[in-house]
Parts: sequence; C-alpha cells; structure tokens
Amino acid sequence: MEKKHIYEQLLPQMAALIEGETEEMSVLANVAALLKDRFGWFWTGFYLVRDGELRVGPFQGPVACMHIARGRGVCGSAWQQRQTIVVDDVERFPGHIACSSLSRSEIVVPIFRGNGDVAGVIDVDSTELSTFDDTDAEGLQQVAQLIAKTLYQQ
Ligand code: SME
Repeated sequence: MEKKHIYEQLLPQMAALIEGETEEMSVLANVAALLKDRFGWFWTGFYLVRDGELRVGPFQGPVACMHIARGRGVCGSAWQQRQTIVVDDVERFPGHIACSSLSRSEIVVPIFRGNGDVAGVIDVDSTELSTFDDTDAEGLQQVAQLIAKTLYQQ
C-alpha cells in the first residue's frame, strides 16, 4: 500500500485508540507499537524532555541511549530547533548519535505542549538510506499533534 494511504488509515485508528486517555506512558507505548506494526521501521519511539535533557521514553526496537543533551544528535537538534528533521544518511549528519550501527536514516518530529514548550520528540530509524520524505514528515507531525491534543494541552 502507498505510504500516504497507510497514514490516512492509521491516524483515525490511532485517534480512536488514545482519545480520552491521560496516562502518558500508556499512550506513547501504544503509539510506538502502532507505528512499528504498520510501517515495520527499525526503531520507533519517543524521547521526553526531563530535567533539561531528553530521556528515552516508550519505544519498539533495539536498546537505545538513555540521555541526549539539548542540541545533540538528531533528537537534541530537533528539540533545539523546534522543527522536524529528516536525515537521509545518518553518517552525514554531524553529531548523529549512533545507538545502533544498523540505523542508516532517521526522522525526528517535536511534540509541542499547549504553552509552546517541547514535551518530547518522536524518533524513527530505518536500516535503509533515505527512507523518510515529506509524506512521513506530514504524517508524523499529525501523529505529534494528536499526541499533544491527548496529553499535553495544559
Ligand atoms: N540517532 C538519534 C539517537 C536516538 S536513536 O536513534 C534511538 C540521534 O542522533 O538523536
């Protein structure tokens, strides 16, 4: 199935799954599982802002680094720049944090609280080069908005 159609099907399913839920870890765990299940990506999950750094949250995939400083790696950069970052080849991204040598491309999307602060980021890794494009950026930004609406309005 075309990627755009997977997102079109996924978003209402995800909304039905998490709407009205308030337990952050439960919501994020199920979203990570749904993304892994639908797309089969190598690593799907979250880093959350805690005490001025990013800490790994719920994820599906291999063991990941626990702490990321603001501005470091793809995740820390997306947090600092407050924008989605698509990396076609992680070896060409200065400061990329290699949690697994199998990871070749990556997308990171910030999740915003109602007051504009970044609550955390969605991080997805692929074992192929150039996996992620504008369709993924748009689709995962919609996922981030849905999570924000569910968990981070206040
Ligand atoms: N590669 C990320 C670190 C997290 S892992 O990919 C799960 C980065 O550079 O921020």
